[in-house]
Amino acid sequence: MKIDLILGLQWGDEGKGKIVDVLTENYNIIARFQGGPNAGHTLEFDGIKHVLHTIPSGIFHDNKLNIIGNGVVIDPVILKTEIDKLHELDVDLSEKLMISRKAHLILPTHRLIDKASELSKGKKKIGSTLKGIGPTYMDKTGRNGLRVGDLELDGWEEKFNNLTKKHLNLIDNFNVDFDFNIQKLSDEFTESIKFLKKIKFIDSEHFLNRSIDEGKKVLGEGAQGSLLDIDFGTYPYVTSSNTTSAGACTGLGIAPNKINKVYGIFKAYTTRVGSGPFPTELFDSTGERMAKIGNEFGATTGRPRRCGWLDLVSLKHSITVNGVTDLIMMKGDVLSGIDKIKVCSKYNYNGEVVDYMPFSIMDENIEPIYEEIDGWEEDITQAKSYNDLPLNFKNYVAFLEDKLNLKIKIVSVGPDRKQTIFV
Ligand code: GDP
Ligand code: IMO
Ligand code: MG
Repeated sequence: MKIDLILGLQWGDEGKGKIVDVLTENYNIIARFQGGPNAGHTLEFDGIKHVLHTIPSGIFHDNKLNIIGNGVVIDPVILKTEIDKLHELDVDLSEKLMISRKAHLILPTHRLIDKASELSKGKKKIGSTLKGIGPTYMDKTGRNGLRVGDLELDGWEEKFNNLTKKHLNLIDNFNVDFDFNIQKLSDEFTESIKFLKKIKFIDSEHFLNRSIDEGKKVLGEGAQGSLLDIDFGTYPYVTSSNTTSAGACTGLGIAPNKINKVYGIFKAYTTRVGSGPFPTELFDSTGERMAKIGNEFGATTGRPRRCGWLDLVSLKHSITVNGVTDLIMMKGDVLSGIDKIKVCSKYNYNGEVVDYMPFSIMDENIEPIYEEIDGWEEDITQAKSYNDLPLNFKNYVAFLEDKLNLKIKIVSVGPDRKQTIFV
């Protein structure tokens, strides 16, 4: 028995939460492998919309285990809010949620450093979610971080106070001005730690490998998208973890030869939130239309998402670095009514035509080269089977499959669980 993965192939918000929720019925365990509360994973069913940040998207199913893996960074304050919301909906988490002892903790001062760093960068800011993600991963690789398992050991308070003090000095050095009340933040954090301790902590790498050996089916849930990967994304405008399939190995302790399917999710167009290059970005009424019909606002920060045409050059890059075996196309419904759909298949890079992602894709040295295919008029949000879909929609799917040399196994035609078509 092996593990399957679901991960995003663009700049995040591809619809991972929805698809993990839909596929959960085929698995016993859902495990998040990286990122933290910078993620916003949306699920919709029975007319209600849920947004998850740290908790895996299998949580609404009964008899399934949800594990927050060692590669995730956890803000206990945010996790408490998430859990409180689930309790309001009568979702009982006691038997369903477990946390890796090796997951790192986001301290209040990590959030403050994130803010100080962004303020100090001015126009060059990353546009981070300000959740403390970068500083927490920096402390992890810098070997200063605090982990969930530290809460079970002696000396927690001292470790917390020392790191907080160190962070406050660091913030002073940024020379930027903003207000915060460290006592209030620390009290809130301490309160949420008491709450966190009620959740079951496990050595998740052992637990997961044993479960796989026992024949349990595991689904790894990614966060962010491949183009935000710290190594293979549009650096420095990326997040601070490996969002690609390798991140599932290090973020769960699962060996590469245990990975079976890698589901790669993409939107039928492209979006990005935050700063950084985006070659196919649109600044016209078509882009505005995608934003409006697609309701493109960040699930974590509420910021408007930038929109543009599908970019096959970056998609191919993502497919390769992840070893994608199956594609899933989301939000095809948003393109209904567009007469001619453009797809970028190559770049003009400093005057040369290329079909790969060069080292730097800053806007000034890249120009997308488009192919055009006929759109469809019909509203497809009520389609129940692949046969219900218009011919030009199917032509779009076939065109992409041909270009990407992979099958699209699922198409999503609306935010609800039920608006999912297996091809
Ligand atoms: P994630 O971060 O990858 O889980 O994606 P987000 O939840 O941040 O963003 C995806 C958004 O698109 C959410 O608001 C979903 O409810 C919505 N969504 C997902 N699939 C579809 C779809 O097929 N059509 C439409 N119109 N919306 C969708
Ligand atoms: P999900 O899992 C979209 C972006 C931020 C910023 C950059 C770095 O919902 O797809 P960070 O806070 O991680 O240091 O910010 O990454 N970003 C996301 N964009 N979806 C996400 O998660 C994101 N998580 C981070 O906007 O540009
Ligand atoms: Mg999201």
